[in-house]
Amino acid sequence: GWKMEDVMDEEIEVINNTVAPDDHVICALSGGVDSTVAATLVHKAIGDRLHCVFVDNGLLRYKERERVMETFERDLHLPVTCVDASEQFLSKLKGVVDPEMKRKIIGKEFICIFDAFAHELEQKLGKKPAFLVQGTLYPDVIESCPPPGSGRTHSHTIKSHHNVGGLPKDMKLKLIEPLKLLFKDEVRQLGRILKVPEPFLKRHPFPGPGLAVRVLGDVTEGNALDIVRQVDEIFIQSIKDAGIYDSIWQAFAVFLPVKSVGVQGDQRTHSYVVTLRAVTSQDGMTADWYCFENSFLKEVSQKICNNVRGVNRVTLDITSKPPSTIEWE
Ligand code: XMP
Repeated sequence: GWKMEDVMDEEIEVINNTVAPDDHVICALSGGVDSTVAATLVHKAIGDRLHCVFVDNGLLRYKERERVMETFERDLHLPVTCVDASEQFLSKLKGVVDPEMKRKIIGKEFICIFDAFAHELEQKLGKKPAFLVQGTLYPDVIESCPPPGSGRTHSHTIKSHHNVGGLPKDMKLKLIEPLKLLFKDEVRQLGRILKVPEPFLKRHPFPGPGLAVRVLGDVTEGNALDIVRQVDEIFIQSIKDAGIYDSIWQAFAVFLPVKSVGVQGDQRTHSYVVTLRAVTSQDGMTADWYCFENSFLKEVSQKICNNVRGVNRVTLDITSKPPSTIEWE
């Protein structure tokens, strides 16, 4: 049988045979498991000729930038530049309500910023970076024919979603995809060997467009982003405290641009409604809504209303996929 250590050694050898000793490599870190493991592996092979960038698009979760940067720098020693582009993204998204339009704008902005990063790096190095690392997995590359000799068989169809990103147009970068023969659980195994912290490896998936698809409508409305961040943080923390995080595929809060009447203290309120979504799934293609204990729901709802200003009603999404999708947009 093959061991993950051998897979790692082989991949490192392949990378070293591909990247010449004076070549430089760039990588966009999303904060997800795949790009992190891919970058860590490449870093082990070529050291600081790897140059990573992490973009804060203003659509990240509560303290997410600080948290992932800490993992990248302190735990993994990755050479990473953090670009705060929140203002740029949010100004482009102002007034946009169509979900696909939001995705398009975010994708386009991302390429813009990545392009600028690559060009700045070229100035600094005095030469173009030659390669781009991508955390493509096996299920992303197969359509109906697994590569010959891979010994893989499969039965799933490909997701229509694309991760935010793409190639800078005029850069002519060659791709390094060190995870392209691995499934998700194998990427986690590899991550473990590379000392990626366990909680990081077990994080729920997070969509490329981030909170833009979890704030319905205009993401810049009022303090919607701030509200959804706080609610999400309370919800996820409660899930972790209850010891059920690993039994759930994805859990998150959604901001609804709807106000309802409530009573808090002896005040009548007219505040926003949020909804909580948690699902179990194998691959995200289909999903079942997760059945929480009543006591858990009671507590979390109370916590949210007591702590998040601007929210007076918490609802629970009890729809599976199909007919719903996992995300609300
Ligand atoms: P849906 O909402 O289509 O989501 O049931 C299935 C899985 O894909 C994630 N998702 C996305 N991921 N870009 C991404 O990178 C996107 O635009 C996107 N939309 C949905 C979603 O979080 C779930 O895990």
